[in-house]
Amino acid sequence: MSQHSADPAPNTALTTVAPHRDWWRDAVIYQVYPRSFADSNGDGMGDLEGVRSRLPYLRDLGVDAVWLSPFYASPQADAGYDVADYRAVDPMFGNLLDADALIRDAHELGLRIIVDLVPNHSSDQHEWFKRALAEGPGSSLRERYHFRPGKGENGELPPNDWESIFGGPAWTRVPDGEWYLHLFAPEQPDFNWNHPAVGDEFRSILRFWLDMGVDGFRIDVAHGLVKAEGLPDLGTHDQLKLLGNDVMPFFDQDGVHEIYRQWRTILDEYAGDRIFVAEAWTPTVERTANYVRPDELHQAFNFQYLSTSWEAAELRAVIDRTLDAMRPVGAPATWVLSNHDVTRHATRFANEAGLGTQIRLAGDRELGLRRARAATLLMLALPGSAYLYQGEELGLPDVVDLPDEVRQDPAYFRGEGQDGFRDGCRVPIPWTRTGSSYGFGEGGSWLPQPENWGELSVEAQTGVPGSTLELYRSALAVRREQPDLGAGDSVEWLKAPEGVLAFRRGEFVCVANTTGEAVTIPAYGRVLVTSGDLTLTTDEAKLPADTTVWWTAA
Ligand code: GLC
Repeated sequence: MSQHSADPAPNTALTTVAPHRDWWRDAVIYQVYPRSFADSNGDGMGDLEGVRSRLPYLRDLGVDAVWLSPFYASPQADAGYDVADYRAVDPMFGNLLDADALIRDAHELGLRIIVDLVPNHSSDQHEWFKRALAEGPGSSLRERYHFRPGKGENGELPPNDWESIFGGPAWTRVPDGEWYLHLFAPEQPDFNWNHPAVGDEFRSILRFWLDMGVDGFRIDVAHGLVKAEGLPDLGTHDQLKLLGNDVMPFFDQDGVHEIYRQWRTILDEYAGDRIFVAEAWTPTVERTANYVRPDELHQAFNFQYLSTSWEAAELRAVIDRTLDAMRPVGAPATWVLSNHDVTRHATRFANEAGLGTQIRLAGDRELGLRRARAATLLMLALPGSAYLYQGEELGLPDVVDLPDEVRQDPAYFRGEGQDGFRDGCRVPIPWTRTGSSYGFGEGGSWLPQPENWGELSVEAQTGVPGSTLELYRSALAVRREQPDLGAGDSVEWLKAPEGVLAFRRGEFVCVANTTGEAVTIPAYGRVLVTSGDLTLTTDEAKLPADTTVWWTAA
């Protein structure tokens, strides 16, 4: 159904999903990592046509929207987060017609499409950067990035002490002697957002994709665009410890909010209830809330939640803190357990707590899967919007034993980076039990898949009671039917044994046992979904270790 006939805005979007105001407030959004989802042309690399062919699977899974990681023209120095042309599709993924067909088909199936926008940096192969290099020091193109002379007698030292998130200095020297800033890989020069051309360009890019009909943008490194005046030294070489815990001169500067206020006015010109979601790593959920004030962005990822262990008291604290932080700004909380930058939660929870979000240990797989299923059911019971990462619905573990020679994560090659092992969650997902790359494509897969991949495939789990895929399907179906799920901005905690979380939302009750022992709990009504086998008596239930159950009193 199109909403455009009554829309005065210059919006030529092709199709939209039936209007449902504020759909995003309780939406379940599924992240597709295009290189690893489905390969339609047998080159070993996923593509847009592959995604399009699998949209019915996503509709049947029961998600509301799909967020696509970057598919733009890019030399792929950071798997597409190094964009050379923001208005073109990389031939590796297809072309603009494929993007158009994907958006149309998604809308016809009732799915919304969110694309990734990478405004903090471009590729070093972006036209502006190539010209900036060619035109030399003092040229106006250099002002669109952060070029500086070096320190030291001959300018042989970087202009300040900032380090790249991927390890090593955040500066690279070019042959004419100047240095340029890159918070990530050297192939990802940071834009200078003080230069008006940068803002103009991104407002135009937003319109380009809005006119293509996308329903929103995930903003990459949304906290990084503005750097502190004068690019001051940090004064420490222990930067990694500060990241995410402290305000840095290059992250979470107050100036970023002005940019998002401008972007919001553009988005609001378009019909269709479109959204922005920020990838903003800030020291606290309270600072994250600044990004989702009413005139800024709609959602921000809740990385504090993602970083929390499978431990009741910690989970309860982060849930309360998140809801308390979001309530005053009127934005929905978001919840996320996995994405393309962290070890999958089935593997994180297979290991002891406190190892962080980058783990290269398989741990106890069975335990990890049991906890992951329980954690997902807990997440999907919380008020707000939830993000799923492709393959988690299959219970996929991280592939922790990829041989070094196949690794592609740029952080891996730059020493002790924050996240050097991201390839393990990016291995192409299995669709079929057997066959070339387990149904991913006809021509192998860009990262090798483990031998047990077939048993975890969509084919192997479909229709199998108790499989992780069927658990996700049931949970998402129930979430659609139960008005209390996802809605609202608070939970009512119920008394529960130590290590157990129990809360009520209207008629709905969720109980999660995070301990390694079975616990006896009251029977709260009718069981809607459970992540493990429950033993029921008339008024009690035995909830196994690491298991979550949903009830309804109705
Ligand atoms: C974001 C992306 C990550 C990328 C980085 C640089 O954190 O999620 O994959 O490497 O930005 O663009």
